[in-house]
Amino acid sequence: MDKKRILTGDRPTGKLHLGHYVGSLSSRVRLQDEYDCFFIIADLHTLTTKPAKEDIERISDNAREMVLDYLACGIDPSKSTIYLQSAVSEIYELNLIFEMMVTVPRLQRIPSLKDMAKGANLTEMPLGLLGYPVLQAGDILMPRANLVPVGKDNESHVELTREIARRFNYLYGDVFPIPDVLIGEVPTLVGIDGNAKMSKSLNNSILISESEKDLIKKVNSMYTDPNRIRADIPGKVEGNPVFIYHDIFNPNKAEVEDLKQRYETGNVGDVEVKQKLATALNNFLEPIREKRNEFESQNGLVDEIIYEGTLKMREEARQTVLAAKKAMGLTGIWNKISRKAEKYRKTQDKK
Ligand code: TRP
Repeated sequence: MDKKRILTGDRPTGKLHLGHYVGSLSSRVRLQDEYDCFFIIADLHTLTTKPAKEDIERISDNAREMVLDYLACGIDPSKSTIYLQSAVSEIYELNLIFEMMVTVPRLQRIPSLKDMAKGANLTEMPLGLLGYPVLQAGDILMPRANLVPVGKDNESHVELTREIARRFNYLYGDVFPIPDVLIGEVPTLVGIDGNAKMSKSLNNSILISESEKDLIKKVNSMYTDPNRIRADIPGKVEGNPVFIYHDIFNPNKAEVEDLKQRYETGNVGDVEVKQKLATALNNFLEPIREKRNEFESQNGLVDEIIYEGTLKMREEARQTVLAAKKAMGLTGIWNKISRKAEKYRKTQDKK
């Protein structure tokens, strides 16, 4: 039997951070044997808030950095397909078809879109940004994915995808599976500044590729219990970012319990808590950094991986969009047109 499929991915905005790791990357690595995996470099989605030419020029390098992070964390391109969204032209087609399956008020109720508009200082909602989750539904349903591992912030987009798939199947017959969402072990990772969400744009992240030195600097600057101005004042562990990170990234549970106990009774300084956290994080990231450097030193490797993956995805996409159009009854005349166009192109090529 064919394996079930996963589709997930990220916008190529640069290097990934620990929030990406615990939100979705770790699930991807864990599931890549059990599922056929497709990982999208969602460059078209970056246009929804950053359509300027100079932003687009940065996409290629950002995509390369991101794929290096994937590989370093253990995504294996011989098992999984990594591809560039904008190079698969069928996505623009599926997007338009799906736009007919959803209403404007339904999209206006999705809170993440308002946040993105605000984050990009947009006073009015661009049509493309309102359609962000519709395009994402196209991404997910293009390889007919069954499972979508994402961070909490993308949960509502997968919910919309399910509605679109149901609506399409209801109108035209069963073409798409109804995909399930899989939220990571840590749905939303707190930022080093104590903000609810680690995010590149908030400047409160620790990168997966962070150097040992910079990591120590960042951990030392971390927000802790603000009421604790001296080491002998009892502090709060719950909701404290330093301890949240300890719980996630420090495998030495006894050490963490000891630190917590001493923190709550005013018997440990922030410095020690942070030093131990930095060590745990550096131990966690060291093998990832090593692998990243190894892949980075292989010239052209990343481009080759994206290229191969995109070719494979194109064939998938061609089949899915054809199945969708056939189900809709759109293929009648244009089948003939396609054949004629093919012939015409050949005569032109000869000239
Ligand atoms: N919306 C995702 C993000 O927050 C990126 C993305 C685009 C995506 N298409 C997807 C995620 C499909 C999962 C599945 O960056």
